[in-house]
Amino acid sequence: MTTSSPKMSKQNIYDSKEFFDGYAKMDRSVKGAAGICEWDSTIKMLDEALQSKHQPTLESVVDLGCGYGWFSGYLARERHVKSIKAYDLSVKMLDRAKQLNQHEESIEYAQADLETIKLPPLAFDLAFSSLTLHYIVNLSTLLDTVYASVKPGGHFIVIIEHPIYSAPTIRNWINNNTQTPTDPNQQQEEEKETLGYKQGEERLVWPLYNYQMEGDRIENWIVKGVVKQHRTISSYINHFINVGFNIRKVEEFTPSPDQIKQVPSLAIEAHRPMFLMISLQKPIN
Ligand SMILES: C[S@@+](CC[C@H](N)C(=O)[O-])C[C@H]1O[C@@H](n2cnc3c(N)ncnc32)[C@H](O)[C@@H]1O
Repeated sequence: MTTSSPKMSKQNIYDSKEFFDGYAKMDRSVKGAAGICEWDSTIKMLDEALQSKHQPTLESVVDLGCGYGWFSGYLARERHVKSIKAYDLSVKMLDRAKQLNQHEESIEYAQADLETIKLPPLAFDLAFSSLTLHYIVNLSTLLDTVYASVKPGGHFIVIIEHPIYSAPTIRNWINNNTQTPTDPNQQQEEEKETLGYKQGEERLVWPLYNYQMEGDRIENWIVKGVVKQHRTISSYINHFINVGFNIRKVEEFTPSPDQIKQVPSLAIEAHRPMFLMISLQKPIN
């Protein structure tokens, strides 16, 4: 019998100086929670998870792909969580997280590759992973590990790039004015205004193609050639179900009208879901 060795992570792009410096200029890096458009939805999902039946009291958490450690820091400061394990592949990201959360002694950091990470069994009341699973090739292996590490009744909150967002091999809005006849009635013009299109402005649409073709997506984002993994929605959902989790909530993040007022550039996000947020719970038996 032949056994294949686990595939190692294809890249550690966040440790490249050029990428790290570019990422540092993003709103979420500069402003933290105030610059993370899905932050309020994340906290709402956390609160709902904590209030649900069988969820253990929040004392130990694992943050998988912690990045700058915004969520871990929040849990330590605002929720007084006693033990937080924050893992990331990138030493630069971990160093930044340590610096930002320097007063939070309940956070323990470790460099780890989520493709091969080992976690202690039944150790965590909650697992969390934001915008990281779409880098992972060996998703089933990781999910088995996470499932075993969460206590019965504990939740796993996952935020990923939405499969509609991650599908195209070239991620660019396209101008569809030439293909869509001018809307004939006022109602549609008003609808365009509401959605962020002004009358006479170009009509941008998101090119959904290659959706069913899972696998590598090479994106020019901050630097050329960032490798991410595209999976369909059913593929993600079935991965979660197969490992044993119950699905408690699914959200396709869209900025609220208030957020759009404050950051008008977010208006375009009403046209396609950028993030998929899923709250999973480990059954009690
Ligand atoms: C977009 S950042 C998200 C950071 C943070 N969770 C947040 O939401 O702000 C993705 C993070 O995943 C980490 N990452 C990517 N591949 C990884 C892997 N194979 N193992 C561990 N971490 C990984 C990166 O180093 C990076 O810090």
